[in-house]
Amino acid sequence: MSIIFNEKTNQFHLHTASTSYICEVFNGILAHAYWGKRVKQILPLEQLYKIKNINLAPHDLENSDWYSTDVLLHEFATWGSADLRTPAFHAVYADGSTVTRFRYKGHRILKGKPSLCGLPSTYVNSDDTCETLEIELFDDCKSVSAFLLYSVFEEKDIITRSVRIANGGKESMTLKTVESFCADFPNDNYDMISLYGAWARECHIQRAPLFNGIQAVDSKHGASGPNHNPFVALCSKDATETSGEVFGLALMYSGNFYAGAAVDRYSRTRLLLGLNSFNFEWNLGAGEEFQAPEVIMSYSSEGIGKMSRQFHKIIAKNVCRGKWRDIERPTLINNWEATYFDFNEEKLLNIADAAAELGIDMLVLDDGWFGKRNTDNCSLGDWYENREKLPGGLKGLGEKLNQKGLKFGLWFEPEMVSPDSDLYRAHPDWCLHTANRPRTESRQQLVLDFSRQDVCDYIVKSVSDVLRENPIAYVKWDMNRHMSEAGSALLKAENQREVFHRYILGLYSVLERITTAFPEVLFESCSSGGGRFDAGMFYYMPQTWTSDDSDAVERLYIQEGTSLVYPFRTMGAHISAVPNHQIGRVTPLKLRGDVAMLGQFGFELDLSKMSVEDKELSKKLIAFYKEYGEIIHSGEVYKLASVFEGKSSAFQIISEDKNTVIVFLYNIQGKVGLPSKILKLQNLEANAEYVEITDEKDGTVYGGDALMNVGILQDITHDHASEIRVFKRK
Ligand code: GLA
Repeated sequence: MSIIFNEKTNQFHLHTASTSYICEVFNGILAHAYWGKRVKQILPLEQLYKIKNINLAPHDLENSDWYSTDVLLHEFATWGSADLRTPAFHAVYADGSTVTRFRYKGHRILKGKPSLCGLPSTYVNSDDTCETLEIELFDDCKSVSAFLLYSVFEEKDIITRSVRIANGGKESMTLKTVESFCADFPNDNYDMISLYGAWARECHIQRAPLFNGIQAVDSKHGASGPNHNPFVALCSKDATETSGEVFGLALMYSGNFYAGAAVDRYSRTRLLLGLNSFNFEWNLGAGEEFQAPEVIMSYSSEGIGKMSRQFHKIIAKNVCRGKWRDIERPTLINNWEATYFDFNEEKLLNIADAAAELGIDMLVLDDGWFGKRNTDNCSLGDWYENREKLPGGLKGLGEKLNQKGLKFGLWFEPEMVSPDSDLYRAHPDWCLHTANRPRTESRQQLVLDFSRQDVCDYIVKSVSDVLRENPIAYVKWDMNRHMSEAGSALLKAENQREVFHRYILGLYSVLERITTAFPEVLFESCSSGGGRFDAGMFYYMPQTWTSDDSDAVERLYIQEGTSLVYPFRTMGAHISAVPNHQIGRVTPLKLRGDVAMLGQFGFELDLSKMSVEDKELSKKLIAFYKEYGEIIHSGEVYKLASVFEGKSSAFQIISEDKNTVIVFLYNIQGKVGLPSKILKLQNLEANAEYVEITDEKDGTVYGGDALMNVGILQDITHDHASEIRVFKRK
């Protein structure tokens, strides 16, 4: 049993294989007692965490010189009563009051993992692999309940958490803040790790010590990234890749979020993650419920790498769904950087011929196939083919590709509308907008109002019609601007601040309808690259275009940062032309290939113009990927060297059966006269022998103990050099 309620101590113990998460009902309040390495039992809270001399703190327990709600470690902190810190819950009631006092009312323990109404969530295939605890907290003055849901994935060392608010009162109320994760740590000896960036520079890693005050990352853009990713971790100051404590949280949500650590005057740390309360309100009528998104919690006492591996496993197996979750996905050629808008059927077929010759599985037709879109200023919303470019239509092109042995993939940007489009002319009120204000365009486009059912229905029909009528095996679902003037023509004034969240609920419903109607189709999400790279999206689409920056060196940063939380399996990664279109850098094809090899492998250049030598090397890269792709994407990842700490990068991947070890080595910049680096491999079997099967080192045998303790020489010393080494257990 992974969830135990101890009636004597009033403590809930949630156990994974190596973690314990403990809460305690203290004076009626659900208090946070412990999150860390697995323990059998702990003392009652009042014997554990004390602060003396707490003047100025409100006391709601008489005769206590040490305790106040304002210093208690909370599990779901509310606003307005005797806790003056940043809350997880804040509401305005019909009488104008803003006080909520949640007290423990009851709990139940369930087998399996319930889904969340309208939102993506982790799931299990068999109820035996997960247990769920639901705790009801109740405010008896307003008859409002908060149902906290904790699910324990014991073997995966993961706990998930979410909250549902139920208005059992007779009047409506307005939710202002509902954070899905809230826990107080007894001290502030931590660094905060988060992922920041921009378009084409996503998921860079930052780490900074906590200070007294609030340290936060968030999104107010209507999409989860790329400025900050909906992930945050606290780690002990001494934490490294392989040692120290790490408390990682990833939010399964694709819109506005908040992740913050608030250190108070007594050096306690409140960690919060959930919906962004800025510009958020939700009117909850009598008898109604509100479901907040789920947080995935990954604790490690063995460093950052273990936190990442736990995230990888749960996202790959308990977030991603459908046919494509487990099987290797097609290699592809995408025509975007090859042709941009300047293509016709002949050009595409020439590229397809070269792709077929190399052994690539699929051609993806990117932007520009619909309406009259020859540049990015028109036609979004008009999802019918351009017969001037494609005389035989999508069907004709798809059939020709299929005859060449290639699958056919297609780009859409369904959430958008161009002012110059038939759709906009027919329905100018279908975009997000605020009355009497200019509609700010970005890339000359506006965002469709997915909070409206009629808009959602229209998009489901337009996309489904194309998928039904044409031989399409893959969809790239793009979203190329974030939101401004985010109002809806259909909502009343008091509901306008619900638009951002309603949009995401509408998007999720559209994705659910389309992806379940077309289970064979592989869906890839994209938001100008990794602008919406979050665990919520993976519930519908198992991979994302990682970044519009396809330069191999930049990708080392972006892919490493992204892999802090998300598995390589979820990352689209393509070889593009040199000089690179984003930053002009010239790198060898080998480096570009070896970097793309980690993700969902493809090409994004005009293959019909490739030299004979490059074609030969590409064939080898594709053959290697086809042989080892499955291991790369299902194996455990160990980061041996971080590009953020130097000019080189290295990953080690161990296959699920532990028989194959692949080491990826990258050197960005060479230096003369320095000793080559030694890299120690990790988590091998000490007594086993491993034989190397990499070309010129073929046949060399190493002991597992030597690989881990002595290491291997990283003898690539030139600029932009790379090497992939494969070891097999004997
Ligand atoms: C975005 C995507 C690119 C490409 C273009 C097309 O920028 O990230 O990969 O699809 O849109 O307009």
